[in-house]
Amino acid sequence: MSERSDDAIAILGGTGDQGLGLALRFARAGRPVVIGSRVADRAHAAADLVRAAAPGAQVEGLENPAACGRARIVILSVPFEHTAATVKGLREALAPGQIVVSMGVPLASAIGDSAARLLGVWQGSCAELVASLVPDGVAVVSAFQNVSAHRLRNLEEEVPCDVIVSGPAEARRIVMGLCPLVPGLRAVDGGPLSNARVVEGITALLIGMNIRYRVPEGVGIRLTGLPEDAARGSGRPAP
Ligand SMILES: NC(=O)c1ccc[n+]([C@@H]2O[C@H](COP(=O)([O-])OP(=O)(O)OC[C@H]3O[C@@H](n4cnc5c(N)ncnc54)[C@H](OP(=O)(O)O)[C@@H]3O)[C@@H](O)[C@H]2O)c1
Repeated sequence: MSERSDDAIAILGGTGDQGLGLALRFARAGRPVVIGSRVADRAHAAADLVRAAAPGAQVEGLENPAACGRARIVILSVPFEHTAATVKGLREALAPGQIVVSMGVPLASAIGDSAARLLGVWQGSCAELVASLVPDGVAVVSAFQNVSAHRLRNLEEEVPCDVIVSGPAEARRIVMGLCPLVPGLRAVDGGPLSNARVVEGITALLIGMNIRYRVPEGVGIRLTGLPEDAARGSGRPAP
């Protein structure tokens, strides 16, 4: 992989819990994966780990800006408090036509308060903050906030969770298509990006439930009453 590929998925901060979990799952499903890090050695080490767990997989580890250039889909997997600075630092590396996936959650733990509470974000959500910072022509889609890193990394088990995907219609459809690569995940059409504020809030709620019900593996969500083919999207433009 040296050119930008539509098939590849870049995961910035893919050395951490959630990003590495997604990298493992996508690589196992046969998608080329590029792991981004602030430090090349950490990216290489994470790529080695993924290769060991997914023999034959096409996996590369690069510094974040270079990783950005390799894939149409770029997943941001850095803590909320470092999101704005990270995106600002990547503006030159992002190009029109790319899709940035925001899965950040503005948990109050960012300011030393509880991870079961949410911080207010001026733009409405972490995803809308990201959308306010990317260059023109780059689409931002919100997804994967309610999926537990612990469950992603346990490759022996499915990940039972619905993934509410919000953002511009075409980019949203493309990101919804990533969900079935992880056994157990189902994509649900979450409409416009402004709905990300609701989805991000659910994560704080789930973290509280993990504590109250003592589920370190992570509680997930399942929506009921949707049509059988919900995972393909509503087919309707965002209202
Ligand atoms: N963990 C979960 O269960 C979970 C669930 C749902 C959503 N999420 C979301 O997924 C994202 C990643 O979560 P995580 O638990 O994987 O986080 P994490 O392990 O704490 O950090 C992920 C990566 O962020 C990078 N990073 C750390 N400090 C940074 C800084 N100052 N500037 C730029 N990059 C920095 C690091 O990569 P390098 O040092 O290699 O650069 C690190 O490996 C967060 O937005 C979180 O809200 C997490």
